Amino acid sequence: MILNLPLSYANLRNIFVLGMGISSVANTIPRPKIEARSPTLYTPVAFGLGAAPLIDSLQPYSGTSVTLDSSTPVLTLDYAADVAGFPYFEVTSLIGSATQIELKYSEQFNGLKLDSGDGPWYLTPTILAVLYTNGLSNSFRTETFNITTSGKTESFFIQGGQRWQTMELLSNTSVTISNIGFRASVEINPSDTLVGSFSASNDVYDGLWSLGARAVQASCVEADSQPSTWEISGDGALIRGQYPGTSALGMNYGDYTMSFSTKISRGGTGWRVAAGPNAGYGAYFVLTSNGPQYLSTDNATVPSDSLITTYGFSIVNFYLSSAPPLYYANPFPILDNEWYRVSTAITPSGYNISVNDTQFAFVPYTTFLPYVNAGFGGTELITTGSWGFGPFQDQAAYVKDVEVIGQDSTVLYTNSFTSTDILAEYLVASNAYAVCLDGAKRDREIWIGDFSHTAKELAASTGRYDFIESMIEFTFAGQFTSGPAAGIVPMQDSMGSAPEYQSVYYPSQYGETDYELFFLLTLGDYYALTSNTAFLSKYWNGTKLLVDAMLTYLDPSTGLLANSSASWFTAQGQQNATAPTALFATSLQQLAIVATALQDPTTAAHYTALSANLSTAINTQLWNPTLGAYSTALTNGVRESDTSVLATAFTIRAGIANSSQATSAVQALDSLFYLIGYKDSTAVGNSATTQLSPNVQGFLLESLFLAYTQSNVTAEVVVPVLHNLLDVYWPRMLNQNEYFTGASWEYVYADGSPGIGMFTSLCHPWGARRRMF
Ligand SMILES: *[C@@H]1O[C@H](CO)[C@@H](O)[C@H](O)[C@H]1NC(C)=O
Ligand SMILES: *[C@@H]1O[C@H](CO)[C@@H](O)[C@H](O)[C@H]1NC(C)=O
Ligand SMILES: *[C@@H]1O[C@H](CO)[C@@H](O)[C@H](O)[C@H]1NC(C)=O
Ligand SMILES: *[C@@H]1O[C@H](CO)[C@@H](O)[C@H](O)[C@H]1NC(C)=O
Ligand SMILES: *[C@@H]1O[C@H](CO)[C@@H](O)[C@H](O)[C@H]1NC(C)=O
Ligand SMILES: *[C@@H]1O[C@H](CO)[C@@H](O)[C@H](O)[C@H]1NC(C)=O
Ligand SMILES: *[C@@H]1O[C@H](CO)[C@@H](O)[C@H](O)[C@H]1NC(C)=O
Ligand SMILES: *[C@@H]1O[C@H](CO)[C@@H](O)[C@H](O)[C@H]1NC(C)=O
Ligand SMILES: *[C@@H]1O[C@H](CO)[C@@H](O)[C@H](O)[C@H]1NC(C)=O
Ligand SMILES: *[C@@H]1O[C@H](CO)[C@@H](O)[C@H](O)[C@H]1NC(C)=O
Ligand SMILES: *[C@@H]1O[C@H](CO)[C@@H](O)[C@H](O)[C@H]1NC(C)=O
Repeated sequence: MILNLPLSYANLRNIFVLGMGISSVANTIPRPKIEARSPTLYTPVAFGLGAAPLIDSLQPYSGTSVTLDSSTPVLTLDYAADVAGFPYFEVTSLIGSATQIELKYSEQFNGLKLDSGDGPWYLTPTILAVLYTNGLSNSFRTETFNITTSGKTESFFIQGGQRWQTMELLSNTSVTISNIGFRASVEINPSDTLVGSFSASNDVYDGLWSLGARAVQASCVEADSQPSTWEISGDGALIRGQYPGTSALGMNYGDYTMSFSTKISRGGTGWRVAAGPNAGYGAYFVLTSNGPQYLSTDNATVPSDSLITTYGFSIVNFYLSSAPPLYYANPFPILDNEWYRVSTAITPSGYNISVNDTQFAFVPYTTFLPYVNAGFGGTELITTGSWGFGPFQDQAAYVKDVEVIGQDSTVLYTNSFTSTDILAEYLVASNAYAVCLDGAKRDREIWIGDFSHTAKELAASTGRYDFIESMIEFTFAGQFTSGPAAGIVPMQDSMGSAPEYQSVYYPSQYGETDYELFFLLTLGDYYALTSNTAFLSKYWNGTKLLVDAMLTYLDPSTGLLANSSASWFTAQGQQNATAPTALFATSLQQLAIVATALQDPTTAAHYTALSANLSTAINTQLWNPTLGAYSTALTNGVRESDTSVLATAFTIRAGIANSSQATSAVQALDSLFYLIGYKDSTAVGNSATTQLSPNVQGFLLESLFLAYTQSNVTAEVVVPVLHNLLDVYWPRMLNQNEYFTGASWEYVYADGSPGIGMFTSLCHPWGARRRMF
C-alpha cells in the first residue's frame, strides 16, 4: 500500500507513516546465532563482470569463482526473479590486508545504477511515498563489508525482495568470491510445483497467473521467520544501523531528559527524542566516532567524530519532510568500543545534548520548527513524544541503561535493555504470527486491505489457507473491544509490534477506514473458500463488533458511508462515495451467509436488510444517467460528474448495478482508459506519471466476469475491457526485462514502467489477478 497523493499540506496531514529497517555488520561484532530454519538457498542464475552493472550478455552462474579487481570491480548477479533472504557470499582468496565490498540490491535493474540501489526511501515533489516501519529487514539497499580473511560472510539483515544484486570492490585490492546467494527468509517454489495451478492456451496468461503466485510466496512470512533487528546481550542491545525503533511507552511524555549508555562497535550510534507514533517522526541524532570509516561512507552527510542532528524521518532522502541536518564537531574524540553516557534534554528552546557530562551541542528548534507540522505529528511534537534508537547505515552500537527523567525529576522510564521484553515495545520483535506483508521489499507492513487480494491468490496458488487463518487471528488479536474505537482492527500493523501496544498507534495508523471493510470482505471470502464455520465462529463476536463500528460511519441523511473522522481509500478520500458503500454492501451480503451458517438468523436478516439499504442509497443518489455510470461520490449533496473504476467494479460485485446499469458502466470505462490501462477515476489527469493501479484493475477484472455470469452483460461489452487488462496492461509486468521480477507490481505508469519509480514495490500481491469464484 502506498499513499499516493499530491504533496499538499492537506494531504500531508492525512499521511500516516513510515518505517524502515537496517544495515550491516562488521567482522568485529559478534554474529547472531544462526537458527535452524529453512535451509533453502536462492542462488543467481547468471552473472557478468565489468566496471559497471550489466544486463546483457550475462553468463550462467553455478557457484562460479569470480575475481574482482580494479579493472573489473563490479559483479552483477541476476536471480531471474524476486527472491528474499539473508545475503551471503564466500571469499576464497584475497590479496591485500582488508578488502571492502559493497553489496547492492534492486528489484528492477536500473536500481543497480544508483548509489543507494532501489532504496532506501524515495520522495518526489508530487508523490509522497514513505516506508511505514522497520519491516524486520535492512532499511538500506546497500551494505558494505570489510573482509580480512577468507570464508563465508552472511548479512545480519534480510533483504526482502530483489532480482538483481551487485558486489562492488571498493578497495584497491583483489578478491575471489564464490557461492553467492540468499539464505531464504521465505519459501518460494516454482509456480508449476504449487498445489494450485493454471494453464491456458495463451502463455501470457500463464505468465500473469505466476506473478501472483510468486508475490504471495515472497510476501507471506512464516511465524518467527523474520528475526528481530536488535540483538539483546548482557551488555545491552546491539543495534546495527537501521531505521530507529521508538518506544511505545513514551508518546505522551514531553520536556524530559533521556539518557543512555552507548558503546559504538562501528561508526556511530543513533537515537530519537520527541518522536511521534507515526514511525517515530521527530528529532533524530547520530553521534559518530573517530573510528575507521568505510570507503562507501558519504562523509559529507555522515562526517566522522561529529554529532548530526535533524528533525523528521532520517538524515537522508526525505525531501520536504526532514529538516536539513545540523552538524557539530565533537568537543572530545568519541572512540569505538568505549562506553559513553549520552543525555538529551528537551528544553524550551532546543535539544541540549551532552556526553559524559560535557555539552556536545545545544540544537535550537528554529530550523526544525517548519517540519513539525509536516503532517506527521502534532504541533507539540518538537517537545513531546517518545524516544528511540537506531544508528545510521553501516554503523553499529550497544545501547543500555536507558533512563527518562521528567522536569520535576520524576523517573518516567528506566530499562537496562538486557531483556528481549523490550523488542515489541520498540517495534522490532520477531514476527509472532504468520502474516502477509503488502510487499516483499516494501512496505513490509500488514495492510489488511491489501490482503483481500492476497487471500484469494493464496487460495488459488499455494493453498496456504493457514496464512489466511493466521492473518485473521492476528487481526482480531489487535481488535479494540471497548472504548471509542471498539470493533476497529489494525489496518496497517507492524510485524515487530504486539497487540498490547495497539492503542498507541490509534488513530495515526488507522488512516483508511475502508480497509476495515476489506477485512470483513476477506472473512466472507474465507468462508466461501473453506466453509470453515468452526474457525469463523471463534471470531463471530469480533466480526459483529466490527460491523457495528462501521455502521457508525453511515451518514444518517444519505445512508452512505460518510463521516469526517473517516477516510476512504477506494474513493480517493471522498465522502458519501459509491465504492466504499458498495464494498460494505458486498461484505454484509457475504457475512449474512456466514451468519446463516453459524445459525445466527437474526444477524443474517439484519445484514441482508442493511445491504439492501446501502444498495438503495447508492442507486437513488449516485447512479448518474448522464455518465451512464455511478458517480464517484456526492459533492455538496449532488452526484458529481466523475466516475471511477471501483464505483463500477464494486456496484457490479454487490449486485447493486442492474443489467443495463452494469452494461453502460462497463462501456463508460472507455473514458478512463489511458494508453495501456484504466485510471482510478475520471478526475485523474493524463500525463507520463499517471498511475494505473493493478490493485484497482484486479477488482475490475473480477467484476467483469461477474457482469457476464450474473448481470447478463454481453460478451461484446465485457471482452474488450478484458482484452485491455489481460493482453495490454498486465503483460507489461512480464515483457520488459529491466523491470521483470516474476511477481506482480504495486503501480504501473502509463508508459508501462513501474508506477512510483524506483520506490515501487515490484513484488506486491495486490497487483496480481484475483482468484475468481
Ligand atoms: C593500487 O595498488 C597498487 C599496488 O598494490 C598500486 O600500484 C596502485 O597505485 C594503487 N592504486 C591506487 C589508485 O591507489
Ligand atoms: C577493516 O578490518 C581491518 C582489520 O580488522 C581494520 O584494521 C580496518 O580498520 C577495518 N576497516 C574498516 C573501515 O572498518
Ligand atoms: C570518507 O572518509 C574516509 C576516511 O575518513 C575515506 O577513507 C573515504 O574514502 C571517504 N569517503 C568518501 C566517499 O569520500
Ligand atoms: C564516559 O563515561 C563512562 C561511564 O558512563 C566511563 O566508563 C568512560 O570512561 C567515560 N569516558 C570518558 C572518555 O570520559
Ligand atoms: C545544557 O547542558 C549543559 C550541561 O551539559 C548545561 O551547562 C547548560 O546550562 C544546558 N543548557 C541549557 C540551555 O539547558
Ligand atoms: C470474543 O470472545 C472471545 C472469547 O470469549 C474474547 O476473547 C474476545 O475478546 C471477544 N471479542 C470481542 C470483540 O468481544
Ligand atoms: C461521525 O461523526 C460524528 C460527528 O458528526 C461523530 O460524533 C461520530 O463519532 C463520528 N463517527 C465516528 C465513528 O467517528
Ligand atoms: C433500511 O431503511 C429503512 C428505510 O429507511 C429503515 O426503516 C430500516 O430501519 C433500514 N434497515 C436497517 C437494517 O438499517
Ligand atoms: C454526506 O452528504 C450529506 C448530504 O449532502 C452531508 O450532509 C454530509 O455532510 C456529508 N458527509 C460528509 C462527511 O461529508
Ligand atoms: C436498471 O436501473 C435503471 C436506473 O435506475 C432503470 O432505469 C432501469 O429500469 C433498471 N432496469 C431494470 C431491468 O430494472
Ligand atoms: C439475467 O437473465 C436471466 C435470464 O434471462 C434472468 O433470469 C436474470 O434475472 C437476469 N439477471 C439480471 C441481473 O438481470
